[in-house]
Amino acid sequence: MNSSTAPAVPHTPLTAAALRSRLRLPLIGSPMFPALNARPQSLLDEWLHRIREELDAHDRAYPERPAAPFAVNQIVHKSNDRLERDVETCLKHRVPLVITSLGAREDVYRVFREAGTLVMHDVINARFAHKAIEKGAGGLIAVAAGAGGHAGLLSPFALVQEIRNWYDGPLALSGAIANGRSILAAEALGADFAYAGSMFIAASEANAVEAYKADIVTGDAEGIVYTSLITGVHGNYLKSSLRRAGLDPDNLGNGDPSTMTFGSAAPPKAWKDIWGAGQGIGAVRAVEPVAVQVDRLAQEYHEARARLEHS
Ligand SMILES: Cc1cc2nc3c(=O)[nH]c(=O)nc-3n(C[C@H](O)[C@H](O)[C@H](O)COP(=O)(O)O)c2cc1C
Repeated sequence: MNSSTAPAVPHTPLTAAALRSRLRLPLIGSPMFPALNARPQSLLDEWLHRIREELDAHDRAYPERPAAPFAVNQIVHKSNDRLERDVETCLKHRVPLVITSLGAREDVYRVFREAGTLVMHDVINARFAHKAIEKGAGGLIAVAAGAGGHAGLLSPFALVQEIRNWYDGPLALSGAIANGRSILAAEALGADFAYAGSMFIAASEANAVEAYKADIVTGDAEGIVYTSLITGVHGNYLKSSLRRAGLDPDNLGNGDPSTMTFGSAAPPKAWKDIWGAGQGIGAVRAVEPVAVQVDRLAQEYHEARARLEHS
């Protein structure tokens, strides 16, 4: 990574405390679409420009409740041949939070750190967590069992415990979090933030097709299969979508990690209709605007807190 890509004047660095103070709930909406999926690459610039403009307009209109910081997801896998350009675009737009997946990259962490951007790296075990922190990641996302998309197999209890044994920096926990009680549980375990994805596929605003949303609102943990067949890396998917693609979700072979590739080329069409989702979807029972989903999360979170405080 070319360090000359850093902007001349760093923005105010985003810390975990600053991030929390800007959020109504300790919750990060997790990425389900990395920067490299904005095609052509110039589209990323347009999107970030629009996000910045609309959030700035919101902050001007409602200075008493400024918008939450936004994040961009970078797949830092070695096959990502547009990473450098995507990093430059994020620096240009002063993205406050970057979430990196599939690899730990010292050069990427450094340019973002120098620019004041917080980089949280997602990990499925303590070994990868150590590696990311040694290389300079600013925070960690513990991806526990049951998370949608690429996921680990460890219990959230074990994973957070093993990370908190030696790490006291910013930590988010993901895996099947879809109600306010689970957000509180993530904090009780020692995480600073919960991190949820699948539930927002059912948001009215999400671009997912209606059948995908319908499978989420009618599905539950038993309808999820963990397989490496689709991308070469293990992840959780809706069994219903595999069946529609002519596959038997209970008898799947393995994928080949060496064929895994992320970059400027479009993904193979074969898996277009295979849908990722985590084990928490049993908590999602309707397609609703994201504001309604977040109101529900807040109510559940505060009720759970009050119940524990008074027990
Ligand atoms: C359909 C889908 C696509 C995803 N794509 C990405 C991705 O591009 N990059 C990434 O870092 N994580 C991706 N994830 C993982 C999420 O960021 C997050 O770890 C996960 O959704 C959390 O678990 P939950 O779905 O049970 O809430 C994806 C998850 C889903 C369900």
